[in-house]
Amino acid sequence: MNIQQIASTPFTDQKPGTSGLRKKVTVFQTPHYLENFVQAIFNCATELKGNMLILGGDGRYYNSDAIQTILKIAVANGISHIKIGRGGLLSTPAVSHLIRKYRAAGGIILSASHNPGGPDGDFGIKYNATNGGPADTKFTDQVFANSMTISGYRIAEMDNISLATAGQFQFGETLVEIIDPVSDYADLMEELFDFGQMKRLLGSEGFSICFDAMHAITGPYATEIFQQRLNAAAGSVINAQPLEDFGGGHPDPNLIYAKELVARLNQGDNSPNLGAASDGDGDRYMIIGPNFFVNPSDCLAIMTANSHLLAGYQAGLKGVARSLPTSRAVDKVAAALGIECYETPTGWKYFGNLLDDGRITLCGEESFGSGSDHIREKDGVWAVLFWLNLVAIKGQSIEEITRAHWARFGRHYYSRHDYEGLDSHAAEAVMAALRIRVKNLAGTHLAGHAVSSADDFSYTDPVDNSITDRQGIRIIFEDESRILFRLSGTGTEGATLRLYLERYEPDPTMHQLETQAALAAMAAIAGEVAQLKEHLGRDQPDIIT
Ligand code: G1P
Ligand code: ZN
Repeated sequence: MNIQQIASTPFTDQKPGTSGLRKKVTVFQTPHYLENFVQAIFNCATELKGNMLILGGDGRYYNSDAIQTILKIAVANGISHIKIGRGGLLSTPAVSHLIRKYRAAGGIILSASHNPGGPDGDFGIKYNATNGGPADTKFTDQVFANSMTISGYRIAEMDNISLATAGQFQFGETLVEIIDPVSDYADLMEELFDFGQMKRLLGSEGFSICFDAMHAITGPYATEIFQQRLNAAAGSVINAQPLEDFGGGHPDPNLIYAKELVARLNQGDNSPNLGAASDGDGDRYMIIGPNFFVNPSDCLAIMTANSHLLAGYQAGLKGVARSLPTSRAVDKVAAALGIECYETPTGWKYFGNLLDDGRITLCGEESFGSGSDHIREKDGVWAVLFWLNLVAIKGQSIEEITRAHWARFGRHYYSRHDYEGLDSHAAEAVMAALRIRVKNLAGTHLAGHAVSSADDFSYTDPVDNSITDRQGIRIIFEDESRILFRLSGTGTEGATLRLYLERYEPDPTMHQLETQAALAAMAAIAGEVAQLKEHLGRDQPDIIT
């Protein structure tokens, strides 16, 4: 095997964000761009040498090309065993599981999650460490530093390999294995949930589900699990074929982008009982019932309150965690259960230490992500199975389960307003002004609402004591309402300002309000405090979820 040393010069923009390095496909196609970044990963993750690497992606445009290149660089860097999903496909949760199950040293996931794909769309690359979780900031900072000084990469001279069928190949010292992307993951799900119970529900008269894979990675997973192993009717999984451009869609499971699913769930008596969708790489999910949406923060709270009913979680929960912007619905449940509830910065990587240290069992984010200690990523299909199993146990609908939860714990009205495509300087100016403004807000009133505290969130990891600061401006009111501001760390163009609004309503007679109406007062205060109109020239967000 001939190994070439190719000289290259650094790119200055290879700093990983909330979830790996995300750029336009055209940027990744720049000569040496992908190669430099991958070599930087191998330079920093020295444990990969002589060990196993898991490699796969969500099937978006450039996935297969990137896999061939990464494979050759991995062979040249002395990786001894590389497992690749057939067709180059692996969901993010499946990679996390495979790393753990086969004790791999790490994994490379190719995805830009819910961002659109295609030649003009987005691409991304993320490194997951030996615990199966996204590499921590210390590692991604090292990779960035390395990418700034890199002078070349090593690459094996070899032909492209066929990814189409399972099989094994030997290249010099490296064993390359093309594996079934689904079976190990599906087996894990059978350990956590009661498949017999769900099968009976799906076989019963008048019960059906609809899972929208959005032409992204979960198609093969959902088809195997729901239609093959659980006998859901053929056609229960829609848009099941992964496509390079996601069929022109936006693989983000929310009410705006999962249009086909929402239409099917709003057909009156003919609606399926449970609707679900997942994103590009399979870590996000949305759950809906007929004409009923469960917001993801409530999902985490409901899971926490009911997990003891599910086979894999009967031992009880060690604790739970949510990201800062996620509503505090789960905090109420944790308090009732007498378990710890951790508040972390945005992004799954912060949950890793808590999971590894045995401090938490469940965790989640408002951005349509929930997960547990079964892997070290959020997990869309797992969450849908959790809900389906819960419906089977309780014999109640999605809406009944959610309303009963609110009646017991109170309701947290919650919404996120995104201002997209902003000039980066203007967005930074909003945050800079807010950092000054919040210093004097505690103890004052905003439009008649008493502010109990206001700051820029700083997180001290309880396991390694590392500090991550400037994670979001938060204003907390005495009536338990909350306003948060932060800038997105996953965009590829301009800046996105996210405004998160929350209002707590313990009184069940007040649980029927329309969400935006319920939050209108908070939205008005937020606009005023941040002077959004003045800074951004806009008074309406682009996306409301
Ligand atoms: C977004 C979400 C965040 C999630 C991340 C990766 O990041 O807000 O919760 O972990 O995508 O899926 P953001 O763009 O806000 O930095
Ligand atoms: Zn994702």
